[in-house]
Amino acid sequence: MALVGCGSAVPAASITNQQLSERVDTNDEWIRTRTGIRARRIAGPSESLTCLASRAAQAALDHAGWSPDDVDLILLATSSPDDLFGTAPRVQGTLGARRAVAFDLTAACSGFLFALITASQYLGSGTMKRALVIGADQLSRWVDWDDRSTCVLFGDGAGSVAVEACGAQDNGLLGFRMRSDGSRNGCLTLAQLDKHAPLLGELTAQRGGFAPIQMNGQEVYKFAVREVPAILSELLEATGTAPEQLDWLLLHQANQRILDAVADRFAIDHSQVLSNLALYGNTSAATIPLMLDEAVKDGRVQPGHLLASSGFGAGLSWGAALLRWQGPTD
Ligand code: ACO
Repeated sequence: MALVGCGSAVPAASITNQQLSERVDTNDEWIRTRTGIRARRIAGPSESLTCLASRAAQAALDHAGWSPDDVDLILLATSSPDDLFGTAPRVQGTLGARRAVAFDLTAACSGFLFALITASQYLGSGTMKRALVIGADQLSRWVDWDDRSTCVLFGDGAGSVAVEACGAQDNGLLGFRMRSDGSRNGCLTLAQLDKHAPLLGELTAQRGGFAPIQMNGQEVYKFAVREVPAILSELLEATGTAPEQLDWLLLHQANQRILDAVADRFAIDHSQVLSNLALYGNTSAATIPLMLDEAVKDGRVQPGHLLASSGFGAGLSWGAALLRWQGPTD
């Protein structure tokens, strides 16, 4: 599978830490020093998840030089769909990608990597040729804006990568690992409300609706700084890759302290750790493709560069992939 295009989209409105401190008991210094976040984008009424995901996917299509009819598969990684029956078909309709099958995949902040790896299986088996993989989330819908321990962390956004089947010499997914640990699910949840209403006689029916995000920040932090280096080590060893061969670390953007800890574990210079969470916060499934798009478009990531990527979060779930960026082919 070759990575041949990327795109991203973020809402227009940005809220700084200072502005947030007018709403909830927090301050810029606490948020910056604990997380590295300075601002986050928040989707407005005309910026649905479908809209952000479609804009990101259209940008990836354009970058790859594809037409909508070239696309066989659209995978949308999201935990905040516009429609629980699936938002990917709305994106497919918006793009006019009539031949593509489109469906959602949910794995929180690991979602984009899991979707990229899933797409690679269809492309590798020869079943499909071209796919758009999107990571998009609008967690501003699901945070409790009165809970300072979570609301300062998240933002909205979308990113997408265009991938196509290729020969072994152009392969851009050199190895991967995926993990889940449901025994630690309670550390980070966006769970269905336990609310039942009378239906008929003794029978009740559960009402739809979700409780806001709840997180044990310290447990998730410990999980991330333990499991991300471990899974990356395993992947580098399995692929015979030395840390010095990596051009970039492309990690889920949750906390600058986590990014720095992972870099230190591999003695990778902090300048090789891609980071844009200062401007966007944690955009969940969107962080990795949003970061990749920025670094490709500003020229940091060049064709042929080797990136070690890792996503981690609710589930708990985590994964890693060794990627070689190719860029558009003529
Ligand atoms: N502003 C000011 N003070 C705050 C805030 C805030 N926004 N939030 C918490 N505090 C206070 C707490 O009340 C506590 O005060 P106390 O000592 O008087 O009780 C103090 O700050 C320390 O709180 P901790 O929770 O211990 O802070 P910590 O250093 O652990 O940092 C953080 C919290 C930033 C959330 C960190 O734990 C973290 O980054 N965790 C990982 C989160 C993550 O990576 N999530 C990724 C997955 S996301 C997904 O999958 C959707």
